[in-house]
Amino acid sequence: MNVKGKLVLSMLIISTVIVVFWEYINSPEGSFLWIYHSKSPELGDGGSPQGWWFPSWFNNRTHAYREEEEDTNKEKEDEELQLSDWFNPQKRPEVLTVTGWKAPIVWEGTYDRAILENYYGRQKITVGLTVFAIGRYIEHYLEEFLTSANRHFMIGHRVIFYIMMDDVSRLPLIELGPLRSFKVFEVKPEKRWQDISMMRMKTIAEHITAHIQHEVDFLFCMDVDQVFQDTFGVETLGQSVAQLQAWFYKADPIDFTYERRMESSAFIPYGQGDFYYHAAIFGGTPIQVLNITQECFKGILQDKKNDIEAKWHDESHLNKYFLLNKPTKILSPEYCWDYHIGLPSDIKTVKISWQTKEYNLVRNNI
Ligand SMILES: *[C@@H]1O[C@H](CO)[C@@H](O)[C@H](O)[C@H]1NC(C)=O
Ligand SMILES: *[C@@H]1O[C@H](CO)[C@@H](O)[C@H](O)[C@H]1NC(C)=O
Repeated sequence: MNVKGKLVLSMLIISTVIVVFWEYINSPEGSFLWIYHSKSPELGDGGSPQGWWFPSWFNNRTHAYREEEEDTNKEKEDEELQLSDWFNPQKRPEVLTVTGWKAPIVWEGTYDRAILENYYGRQKITVGLTVFAIGRYIEHYLEEFLTSANRHFMIGHRVIFYIMMDDVSRLPLIELGPLRSFKVFEVKPEKRWQDISMMRMKTIAEHITAHIQHEVDFLFCMDVDQVFQDTFGVETLGQSVAQLQAWFYKADPIDFTYERRMESSAFIPYGQGDFYYHAAIFGGTPIQVLNITQECFKGILQDKKNDIEAKWHDESHLNKYFLLNKPTKILSPEYCWDYHIGLPSDIKTVKISWQTKEYNLVRNNI
C-alpha cells in the first residue's frame, strides 16, 4: 500500500473511531452496528462479497417505521400528495411539460418545492444514490461528484451514497454533511468499458436485493463523470424516473440513437419511442429500480448470447425498458446538461452538468 493509501486508511480508522464513540454516547441502549461485512451468496462476479458499512444515525429502517407508527394519527391526516398540488405545467409553456401518458416532465419553474419539502419532510425519507468509479474514473471524477452531491443532492433529507469501486483504498476523503452517509463496495473491474457500463445493471440489482431495498425509500443511479451545480431536490422523486438526454430533447424521434437492429433485445423500430433517455441518471423506488436493472441486464445477456451488442450498451436497453414501462416522472435536460451545447433559453437552472469526457484518459479501450 502506498503512503497515500495508508494515510487514507488511517484517516478512515480515526474517523470511524470518532463516529463510533459518538454513536455510543448517543445510542440509548449503548449498542450499535458499526462495521458490516456483506457476505451475500448472490453476489456473483459483478459484486464482491466485501462491503464496509459506515456508522450513522439514520439507518435502522425498522426503527424508523416504528417511530412513524407512533404518530399514526398524524400520518393519517396527511393526504397523499396530488400532482396538481405541486406541479404546474403551464409555468413553462415553451417546452413539453406533460407526456402523452400524463407523466410530469419536471422543468425549472413547474414545481413548488416548499410543498414537496413539507410532504417528504414529514415522511422522513431516505434517498440512496449509487455511483460507480472504476480505474481512472476514480481520480478524474469521483471526488468532484461526491463533493458536489454532498452539497446539492436532497438537502435536508437522509442520503446514503453507495460507492462502487474496483479499489476502495482510493476513496477520496470527503467530509459529508449532516444526514449523509456512505457505503463503499468493491467491484471487479471489467476489461472493456462497455462491459463495466453494462455490468452496473447487474451489480445495482444485486445490491438492491441484498440491502438497499431495506435502507432507502428512493434510489437514484448516476454516472460519475458529472457534477452537481444546483439543488437536485425532492421534485425529482417518483416511482420510476427517467432523464431526458440533453442533445436529443428537441430532436425528431427518427434521429434518436436507439438500437435499430432487430436481432438486439434493445431494438426499437423507426416510428416508435417517446424520448431519448440518458442512462447517466435514472431512479425510482428500490423495487422499480430493481425491475429496471434486472430487465436491462436480461436484455444484455440475451444480446451476448446472440453475439450482438446494442449501439449504446446499457443505455439502449434502458430506452427499450422505458418504452415498454413508461416512467412516471421525467426530468428535463436541466437536470443533466452538457455545456458544450451552449445555454439555450429553455435551460433555466442547470442542476447537474456533464464533465468533460476525457475518454482517451479514462477508458482502456475506445
Ligand atoms: C433495528 O431496530 C429494531 C427496533 O429498535 C431492533 O429490534 C433491530 O435489532 C435493529 N436492527 C439493526 C440491524 O440494528
Ligand atoms: C418489470 O418489467 C417487466 C418487463 O418489462 C414488466 O412486464 C413488468 O410489468 C415490470 N414490473 C413492474 C413492477 O414494473
